[in-house]
Amino acid sequence: MTIVVTGGAGFIGSNFIFHMLDKYPDYRIVCIDKLTYAGNLSTLKSIMDNPNFRFVKLDICDREGVYKLFEEEHPDIVVNFAAESHVDRSIEDPGIFLETNIKGTGVLMDASCKYNVKRYHQVSTDEVYGDLPLDRPDLFFTEETPIHTSSPYSSSKAGADLLVMAYHRTYGLPVTISRCSNNYGPYHFPEKLIPLMIANCLYDKPLPVYGEGLNVRDWLYVEDHCKAIDLIIHKGTVGEVYNVGGHNEMRNIDIVKLICKELGKPESLITHVADRKGHDMRYAIDPTKIHNELGWLPETKFEDGIKKTVKWYLENREWWEEIISGEYQNYYKKMYENR
Ligand code: NAD
Ligand code: TYD
Repeated sequence: MTIVVTGGAGFIGSNFIFHMLDKYPDYRIVCIDKLTYAGNLSTLKSIMDNPNFRFVKLDICDREGVYKLFEEEHPDIVVNFAAESHVDRSIEDPGIFLETNIKGTGVLMDASCKYNVKRYHQVSTDEVYGDLPLDRPDLFFTEETPIHTSSPYSSSKAGADLLVMAYHRTYGLPVTISRCSNNYGPYHFPEKLIPLMIANCLYDKPLPVYGEGLNVRDWLYVEDHCKAIDLIIHKGTVGEVYNVGGHNEMRNIDIVKLICKELGKPESLITHVADRKGHDMRYAIDPTKIHNELGWLPETKFEDGIKKTVKWYLENREWWEEIISGEYQNYYKKMYENR
């Protein structure tokens, strides 16, 4: 079995590769990654010499390069994690989101059709459903919820999802899509809420909470997400969408307070800054379908997952300190200085 994993030098893709190499010692995993600002080869250093693993620096929009790779590897399965993934960056500069998230997905699917891939899996997001109001805790996203996006990021992901379904219907490409809620855990890039707050806490820097911090996200430990994708690519029904989420809704402000508590830092570090434009209020997934059809349930409780995550950032300072010492400084200045 050969699986091409795109975006495997990023947060979820790398965790997925570790999970697969560990669980399936006879699988070959080929990682394609462009190594954008969000991709780190150092994340994959422990598996670079694994004979079942190959890393190829490649842009998923590079049609010739992707076809050549598929010609060499003849993958059975493609799992597409590669994406521009940060909402705030998409608000500043949407163009690259359309390129990678939509056009890149198209190139990968063309290659998958040409080389008769048995399963093309698209890693999508619950953000394609837009947001839910805070005063309707009875509402959740199901797979039937209409697509209704807010940000350039979520719109580009929704565009890709529509294209994936069109390739299934038009060309018979055997596809599946998973739509997951917010992940957290090791190797999470420090521009995202949880690792940003951990890093800032450790430097006693202000903790920039957008608006009141009342926005709700449904947090899922990354390993549980990887297990869901493993189940979907092996047992999921072709042509289907699966929502993946943890029934673990938390307000941003409560997450930040919890991180302060875990690290023994004062809540006075919290600074309310200008809100994100078009900020989605609440995400909440109904995971009934993946539970009933594939037996998946999130295994990691948030209180355990957040402890494990904080411990990981404490024990792996060199990984994130190297990231935040480079180009990230300019990003941080631009995004937060006058907020
Ligand atoms: P990430 O930003 O940490 O990693 C993205 C990876 O893709 C990086 O290694 C980057 O170098 C690579 N990449 C970017 N453009 C590329 C291109 N053109 N060609 C090849 N590689 C490219 O992202 P993540 O948080 O790991 O998210 C992975 C996927 O999961 C994305 O598709 C995202 O939309 C989706 N998702 C993420 C979350 C979350 O909470 N992080 C939740 C739901 C869905
Ligand atoms: P983020 O981690 O960017 O994920 P997403 O936007 O995909 O949900 O943000 C999670 C929540 O945290 C979101 O409501 C925005 C908020 N947030 C802050 O309040 N401050 C920050 O510095 C960041 C990065 C996010």
